Amino acid sequence: MSEIRVAIIGGTGVYNQSLLNDQEEITVDTKYGAVTMRMGTYKNRKVFFLARHGGKHSVPPHMVNYKANIAALKHLDVNAIIATAAVGTLHQNMPPGSMVIIDQFIDFTKQRPLTFYEGAGKTIVHIDLSEPYCSEVRKTILNAGTALDLELVDGGCYVCTEGPRFETPSEIRMIGQWGGDLVGMTNVPEVVLAREAGLCYAVIALPTNYAAGISLSPLTHEEVLDEIERVKPGLEKLLATAVENIEHGYSCGCNEAGKYWSEES
Ligand code: HPA
Repeated sequence: MSEIRVAIIGGTGVYNQSLLNDQEEITVDTKYGAVTMRMGTYKNRKVFFLARHGGKHSVPPHMVNYKANIAALKHLDVNAIIATAAVGTLHQNMPPGSMVIIDQFIDFTKQRPLTFYEGAGKTIVHIDLSEPYCSEVRKTILNAGTALDLELVDGGCYVCTEGPRFETPSEIRMIGQWGGDLVGMTNVPEVVLAREAGLCYAVIALPTNYAAGISLSPLTHEEVLDEIERVKPGLEKLLATAVENIEHGYSCGCNEAGKYWSEES
């Protein structure tokens, strides 16, 4: 059986991955642009680490090259992607410092690529997102949390805003009425493109602050970075154990969604 390949997409505050052995930098050319990432190994798995905002947080959420990132990971034939995402929280049961394995999203973005399948001569593809995040990778992360005695929150609805500004209190009130639990700026279209490519994908959402109007103080990027530093020891253990437990032969159906994919996509 071929080796297991796992990708980690690091969000805000997660710019490198010390768990990788024999690390080297690689660049993958895709028709959407070149993607540079780290490649290494961990416990017999090949691991790719991609910093979503660049190594120095130089790419804002609305300018991340989501298509190139997912096309590059597809080209590398990864079995699963585990992403991290800093989020604001609307709920006390998902407080700053917790980790939430989200299971739904609402798209509140405005001007981002929506799909790989557009343009002259392209097959139009409507993927099913009844279960937007891979059930098997979610389970692997949740089991890793149990094994490590970390209290993960199982499920939550992530609302993706366009950013790069934080939200207004009125927007957060509306998001709460919609059923949103967490708010962030990057998970759409990443999750959608991963499914279109037939890749198993799940997210560890990291609440760093109460959302605007719930927080008693103005929101800052520094506060977000400080909070990520606080959870990093637990996060790194969680990523290591989850990577170690990713398996072949998941029956989640994510792969089936990628049946229209070709390198020309
Ligand atoms: N809003 C949007 N994105 C975020 C937040 C927030 O409050 N905190 C961290 N990322």
